[in-house]
Amino acid sequence: MTEGVWFDEIDSTNAEARRRAEGGETGPLWLAARRQTAGRGRRGRAWESDTGNLFATLLTTTRRPAGEAAQASFLAALAVAELLDAFAAEGAVTIKWPNDVLLAGRKASGILLESGGRADGGLWLAVGIGVNLAHAPEGTERPATALARHLRPDIAYPPPPEIALELLAERFAAWSERWDRYGFEPVLDAWRRRAPGLDGPCVARLSTETLSGVADGVEPDGSLRLRLPDGSLKLISAGDVF
Ligand code: BTN
Repeated sequence: MTEGVWFDEIDSTNAEARRRAEGGETGPLWLAARRQTAGRGRRGRAWESDTGNLFATLLTTTRRPAGEAAQASFLAALAVAELLDAFAAEGAVTIKWPNDVLLAGRKASGILLESGGRADGGLWLAVGIGVNLAHAPEGTERPATALARHLRPDIAYPPPPEIALELLAERFAAWSERWDRYGFEPVLDAWRRRAPGLDGPCVARLSTETLSGVADGVEPDGSLRLRLPDGSLKLISAGDVF
């Protein structure tokens, strides 16, 4: 079982992972907080982080090249989907490329991968995961929801963050082991089964630009094939949307 540290309050578990990585810590180590005062989302956005939801980052070290290491976000999405599946109404959980986990079509989780080089040539990786267990932020660009609104009829409350992290860490470790042993293909197969709409209108928000087109499936490495209005095909790697 991977080690874990809980904070009552912290700026950001991803920021803490970076500080520790830069201080030489290798992990694997889960850093989790009941509340974040400066939670970070993708594209420099803030991530609302009030008590009741899950905020956790896995700090780990890898010898994989950065492009391949980015595939960890697919493992994280699968682990979150499995966590939510254990409590949510049947059929509610889906994944949107590459790693947004949705409940009834609304965003219920966010994943932020950060990485950096180590002195020994390896790479540290921070897999930051936020899951809306109890409440969802209002007024976000994309409609959000929380597990509390989609529970199975026999479940009264969403799990507390501590229990949610146990399940999440266990599922992430299982996918990680499969990735190490059998490669990315079985991971992507499982991910595909949970990701409808890989062949329809799509807006890809990259760090540098926003592209509109029609999605045309995913490549074996997890990149999205996007058909642009001029007919050309653009491959967007999962790493580009961080
Ligand atoms: C997104 O914008 O979709 C990604 C959000 C990621 C939020 C999580 S919460 C735990 C970890 N710590 C952070 O500051 N961000 C990530």
